[in-house]
Amino acid sequence: MYQLIRPGLFALDPERAHDWTVGSMRRLGQMLGPRYPLPGRSVSLAGLQFDNPIGLAAGLDKNAEAVSGFSRLGFGHIEVGTVTPKPQPGNPKPRVFRLTDDWGLINRFGFNNDGLDALVRRLNNHPFAGVLGVNIGKNKDTPNASAANDYVSCLKAVSPVCDYVTVNVSSPNTPGLRDLADAKRIIEIVKPVLDARDLNRRRQRLPIFVKLAPDFADHDLEQVLEALLELSVDGVILTNTTVQRQGLQSHARHETGGLSGRPLTKQSEHCLRIADAHLSGRMPIISVGGIMTADDAQTRLALGASLVQIYTGLIYTGPGLVKQIVEKTR
Ligand SMILES: Cc1cc2nc3c(=O)[nH]c(=O)nc-3n(C[C@H](O)[C@H](O)[C@H](O)COP(=O)(O)O)c2cc1C
Repeated sequence: MYQLIRPGLFALDPERAHDWTVGSMRRLGQMLGPRYPLPGRSVSLAGLQFDNPIGLAAGLDKNAEAVSGFSRLGFGHIEVGTVTPKPQPGNPKPRVFRLTDDWGLINRFGFNNDGLDALVRRLNNHPFAGVLGVNIGKNKDTPNASAANDYVSCLKAVSPVCDYVTVNVSSPNTPGLRDLADAKRIIEIVKPVLDARDLNRRRQRLPIFVKLAPDFADHDLEQVLEALLELSVDGVILTNTTVQRQGLQSHARHETGGLSGRPLTKQSEHCLRIADAHLSGRMPIISVGGIMTADDAQTRLALGASLVQIYTGLIYTGPGLVKQIVEKTR
């Protein structure tokens, strides 16, 4: 079915296709309400129960407009955001590009979002029965020296309306954000967030995950993981998009931004291998980046991931990918 719709969607400008998709999912959710996650291999992690190991990655439903609609696909968890304290428009358009021959995307959205108040309003008493995460970031005009305040404001506002929070220090599209991701700086951001931790929407201690870029040298990644272990973070999400460009065919390959999809598969897998070897089960890993098929997802779980997330795979393979992954990994 998706193979019939895809050419129409791909004929649209990528941001219009994105907006159309989110709008359609929002209307679907309004008509049918949320769906219970598809039953699959259940996962217990950081005190949360996941009915299956597949989640929606951050960035597709940035403003939490379409959680019910996306839940119809069967996800065990849905991560909305990145949200910043104040609304912001993001970078000038065009800011997302299809690399069709490579099954990839490049985006430089720059945390365009409606801001914290709008997101919290939409998630208040949300009926989604699966696990609901909120990915938090800082506003573009907040200097790195006071970035921790932005993260803490977001954490305090979203805790009562979600199940977990992801601290995003890995977007390549907010100037200087990745400077926050060396081991020392990461402690300065994450420690105040952990100290401000409250109860989640189920009145449990709120789990906090940290999402990292794939562009670390192996040793630097190990150092960051060590810092996260010392802080007793509840899990690490590996990976965000990459700034590297290798072996790409498509015209848009030179665009600035974060690259996702098939060209990221090997790099994300490599990060997972490094992290799994270093952590030896001391902290759960959520793997994301270039999971385009059910086999890709199965590989990640076999390599030590507890959960997986998808974004670009939904665009190229289609929404049926969620069910395929649930069935393959059961
Ligand atoms: C258009 C687009 C927007 C994204 N926005 C965000 C975001 O706001 N916050 C975030 O943590 N990750 C964001 N991501 C990264 C994804 O969550 C994911 O980590 C990355 O795309 C790799 O997964 P994939 O290859 O399955 O897409 C975005 C990705 C894309 C393609």
